[in-house]
Amino acid sequence: MKKLITTAAMAVSILLVSGNSVFAKESVASLRGTQDIQGSSLKVTKKKLVSQEGGFERSYKQQPPMIPHKIDKYKINLKNNGCLKCHSKKNHKKEKAPMLGESHFLTRDGKKLDHVSSRRYFCNQCHAPQVDANPLVKNEFDGLK
Ligand code: HEC
Ligand code: HEC
Repeated sequence: MKKLITTAAMAVSILLVSGNSVFAKESVASLRGTQDIQGSSLKVTKKKLVSQEGGFERSYKQQPPMIPHKIDKYKINLKNNGCLKCHSKKNHKKEKAPMLGESHFLTRDGKKLDHVSSRRYFCNQCHAPQVDANPLVKNEFDGLK
């Protein structure tokens, strides 16, 4: 990271000195590495979704909790939401699953509904499952404890 920042700073100073807007090609590094832009992508290794009993710890207040189970069988479309089969007010007890957060029943004006608000219908807009993989780039994020 330090090296990248130094290279970027160098590129900026070259720009300031020469006054032209051509960035040095070498200073940009993408996740594709040296793979040619016209070439095919590198093969992605298939990763397994991680199931974690008791769920994942949240990194901060108001974080949408990570999904601690597989989700490939649960479809979300106009007619059906597979997630509600277990997480709705009606079904969660029987399925022994946590109920949707209270905020999921509120309209944008704060009115409480007895069903999930359309603002919260597409669950994976906010909740994501996890795979057992290393971060793609170095990451020093440390959640609030
Ligand atoms: C077959 C029932 C079932 C279905 C369907 C289901 N879940 Fe779950 N879900 C569970 C159970 C049980 C847990 C609790 C697991 C645990 O804590 O060990 C859970 C946990 C979660 C949590 C973590 C909650 C927390 O507080 O940590 C999220 C988020 C979640 N599910 C989202 C989803 C989404 C999104 C879908 C649809 C794509 C979905 N679930 C479909 C049963 C289900
Ligand atoms: C716009 C973002 C968003 C969408 C869409 C969304 N959620 Fe959430 N969800 C959150 C946030 C933020 C929290 C944590 C705060 C809270 O409970 O409101 C949460 C909490 C939860 C919890 C834990 C509740 C608890 O009491 O610990 C479950 C379970 C859950 N969501 C399931 C779902 C399911 C299933 C859907 C789809 C029907 C969904 N969510 C849609 C943002 C979202």
